[in-house]
Amino acid sequence: MKFGVDRREATAASADAAAVGVFEIEGKDDRLPPSLALADKASAGLLAAAWKRREVKGKKRELTVLHRPDGRGRVLLVGLGAHADFTTDTVRRAAADVVRGLRGKGARTLAYQLTSFVDGPVTSSLASRALTDGSILGAYEFLRYRTTTEGGIEEAAVYLGEDRVAEERSLTGEVAEQTAIAENVLWTRDIGNLPADTATPERLADEARTLGKALGLKVTVFDEKQLAKMGCGGIVAVGSGSSHPPRLVILEYPGGTRRGRTVAVVGKGITFDSGGISLKPGPRMSEMKFDKSGAVAVLGILRAAATLKVAPRVIGVMCCAENLPSGTAYRPGDVVRTYNQKTIEILNTDAEGRVVLADGLGYVVDQYKPDEVIDLATLTGASVVALGDAMAGLVSTDDRLAGGLLLASAATGEPLWRMPLTDYARELVKSELADVRNSTEIPTAGMLTAAAFLEAFVGKTPWAHIDMAGPAWVNPVTRKYQPSYQSLGATAFGVRLVGRYLQDLGTSKG
Ligand code: BES
Ligand code: MN
Ligand code: ZN
Repeated sequence: MKFGVDRREATAASADAAAVGVFEIEGKDDRLPPSLALADKASAGLLAAAWKRREVKGKKRELTVLHRPDGRGRVLLVGLGAHADFTTDTVRRAAADVVRGLRGKGARTLAYQLTSFVDGPVTSSLASRALTDGSILGAYEFLRYRTTTEGGIEEAAVYLGEDRVAEERSLTGEVAEQTAIAENVLWTRDIGNLPADTATPERLADEARTLGKALGLKVTVFDEKQLAKMGCGGIVAVGSGSSHPPRLVILEYPGGTRRGRTVAVVGKGITFDSGGISLKPGPRMSEMKFDKSGAVAVLGILRAAATLKVAPRVIGVMCCAENLPSGTAYRPGDVVRTYNQKTIEILNTDAEGRVVLADGLGYVVDQYKPDEVIDLATLTGASVVALGDAMAGLVSTDDRLAGGLLLASAATGEPLWRMPLTDYARELVKSELADVRNSTEIPTAGMLTAAAFLEAFVGKTPWAHIDMAGPAWVNPVTRKYQPSYQSLGATAFGVRLVGRYLQDLGTSKG
């Protein structure tokens, strides 16, 4: 989708639809708010009539379409809810509702009336960015395996009108940057949505190589033989049941400033998680093609970092393997030795994510001595039980890092909730046979014990773990409860969040 800025009033344009935000009616006053005067004029009084009938209430997710009697397209009213809980994310969601609502309805061009989305803490800059974000993300469809599509908005813009025309230059820059950020998410989703027959560990490594070439990033790929030599027994064990061998991929973005921090971003890249010998039950196993979402997010984050030229140096690590049962698969009872010489007692081959991450974390900490490490993983069903499908869990040993990620979460609308790392959880992952066990005797607080396990491989480096098993993908059932900008399938969760965190390091670095 092309997204731009236009000086005119939205209703004066010749777009197929002019979208106007409407706040929820407060009290009994049924006079049309002055902010809707232009929209009413364009609809030749249809809006005022609908308002009087209380057909337009301004509730969230409410869409009202009025066809202009003058034949110049439609006026589309989108509900924003109450003023009191109006945030940037309200605008992002509303924009996605608009493009979704217009899908398959013959509208190709869209004009947002910017002033109607600016209120309270939401400045014209935040609103413009959120309209861009929500429209581009909300319009996404994974089309690779479809032969038909309904078609939708191809060109949209925020229309400044008289009130905001002075901001044309600054807003044009902001909208262009946000377009790049949102399009990067679509690029990431396209890889995240590939099924496991196509998105093998080697294919993910190829995506990294191609990206590296395009953006001038150094990319190193370790194959199964090299991994065995390096002592990465975790990745080798998890990948040993598949005919698609494992890969560890390192991407290096040098950083936009000389003395910036080094941030390592490590992702779980299980291209398919059948559970292995500890086989998962059948229902919804197909969704385990999304178990690579952490590693795919790393690709998107590196692409964003290089495109936006963030200040810190960023090292991306993708821990890629396919977890299948076979005669060569690793098994419960095995003990594996990882890169940093720690041993893991395998008790459940379905707790494979932490086993591959153990090598990725150990390797990057040893080789790159980063100032901080962030890992992203669809790690536990327990995180989904605790926080639901839409929110990721955050476990961190560093308050500054955690605080920065929570700020980025608020800014991007990618929800994150901090969870504690307790000595009790650390106790539960100790093994009598090895240093740690990959599955605990007491199955409670699974998100926390998984984090306690990972901590053993990070050492003293400030670290944040993002368990995104919930929000990494959307299925047909959860879809209707999710914001419209989370499309069906891979969401590329973490790309906007960590991308934003890295951008913020560029401006507020100490
Ligand atoms: N990839 C799964 C986690 C998962 C489960 C993500 C459901 C999304 C939905 C992970 O590898 C896994 O199987 N975890 C186990 C851990 C257990 C065996 C200790 C789990 O959560 O059940
Ligand atoms: Mn598993
Ligand atoms: Zn898994």
